[in-house]
Amino acid sequence: MQVFNHVEEKYWGAFHDYVFEIAVLTVLVAPKPFIIHKFRFGFVDFLSKLEYFAGICGVGARLVARRRQNSRIANFQWAYTRAGIQQLMSSPTTSAAAAEAINQFDLGEQYAAIGAEVRAAVDRVLASQQLVLGQEGLALENELAVFCGTTHGIGVASGTDALILALRACNVYAGDEVLIPTLTFVATGSAVSALGARPVFADIDRATLNLDVSDVRRRITPKTKAIIAVHLHGLAADMDPLREIAKERSLPLIEDNAQAIGATYKGRRTGSLGDIACISFYPTKNLGAAGDGGMIVTNSADLDARLRTLRNHGQASRYISTEPGWNSRLDEIQAAILRVKLRHLPAWQKARQMNAVKYSKLLAGVSGVRVPVVPGGYEHVFHQYTIRCERRDALQKFLGERKIGSTIYYPVPLHLQPLYSGLGHKPGDFPNAEHVAGEILSLPMYPELSEDKIERVVATIAEFARQ
Ligand SMILES: Cc1ncc(COP(=O)(O)O)c(C=O)c1O
Repeated sequence: MQVFNHVEEKYWGAFHDYVFEIAVLTVLVAPKPFIIHKFRFGFVDFLSKLEYFAGICGVGARLVARRRQNSRIANFQWAYTRAGIQQLMSSPTTSAAAAEAINQFDLGEQYAAIGAEVRAAVDRVLASQQLVLGQEGLALENELAVFCGTTHGIGVASGTDALILALRACNVYAGDEVLIPTLTFVATGSAVSALGARPVFADIDRATLNLDVSDVRRRITPKTKAIIAVHLHGLAADMDPLREIAKERSLPLIEDNAQAIGATYKGRRTGSLGDIACISFYPTKNLGAAGDGGMIVTNSADLDARLRTLRNHGQASRYISTEPGWNSRLDEIQAAILRVKLRHLPAWQKARQMNAVKYSKLLAGVSGVRVPVVPGGYEHVFHQYTIRCERRDALQKFLGERKIGSTIYYPVPLHLQPLYSGLGHKPGDFPNAEHVAGEILSLPMYPELSEDKIERVVATIAEFARQ
């Protein structure tokens, strides 16, 4: 099937409009001389009648042309429906020049929808002039703890700070080892390094992209002080066996829940699956602030008390510090904005999940592409919708040339980062992570992403796959 050609449509449309205008004018103007001369026969009378019939023919021709044009537009729309997508995939997609850009994420649409609520929340805080450690922060801590299924929430300045403080609250000090996956954002590792401790990397499972439990077991040493499980891209790590290992070795299990707020594992939300969990409110996260922010959630009253001290200069009471701490507090404006957004999070999460279902259905027929895996008993929240493709770099270029954004989360596993060159790792040490790092590509994903855009992304990938 030929995909509708916009250039052809434009010029035919202009021509038809021109003919139509002349024809209508003629029909409107012509009756006058036609009536005036209706009892006379002569050359002028003949010309009037000719002009009038030409006008009628012009209007008729225009109506027929319009019908044909409509049916072609209808064909175009049909081609982009699910029923027509297979046919569409065998045709070239709309030219890059004509296509609207599709960003990998887009915060503008979200703000357009809830801007008034956000501004009212900010005004409320400014009117109160209680700007740090106030009622908004306390309320958010409670609301988010309830959302995650925990009893305590502690607001901090970022997801990275949440990790640093959680590690310290679990008594990680210089020289200790902390087990983390090698495929994650650098913050998981740099939080360990910030305390002078050493990140010990473990490989990942190729299907879920999360920790390979058997590799974790192999890499534990007497120096290991904690395990961090990252719920990458919005899918929980396999927490039951990790909890078993942690329990056997009496190690705290920390969740890096920066990307998976709202996700579930065997019916329980991430954040409640380990001893302590760290959340990031970086603006592009599923629950994003208007700047930096983070939170730690836990069921432990002891950890809660220690963390409140650590985030506020180690002050156990006013101006009395019991240990070195930090200044890492979530400010009231961010907390108020996050409270607004938390109310929308379940709907946004559903929208992300629906978008993922659409992507996976449409991509099922595209060769050379693997869609994200969602094992039974897991609810993925699709912070990222990440496909795998052997020709990933070429695909990313192809998409970029057609104004479709995509990102690699993450192209270089931590054991190969220059930051960790001192740890003595080499290519091949973590084969699964290295393999998938060469294949993964995250496609446009945000709650407001339209079906049309998803279909265009898929049609473009299908066009690439045919080459
Ligand atoms: C897995 C992971 N951990 C930690 C962080 C750090 O969070 P933040 O940027 O809020 O410091 C991020 C943020 O991108 C992340 O994706």
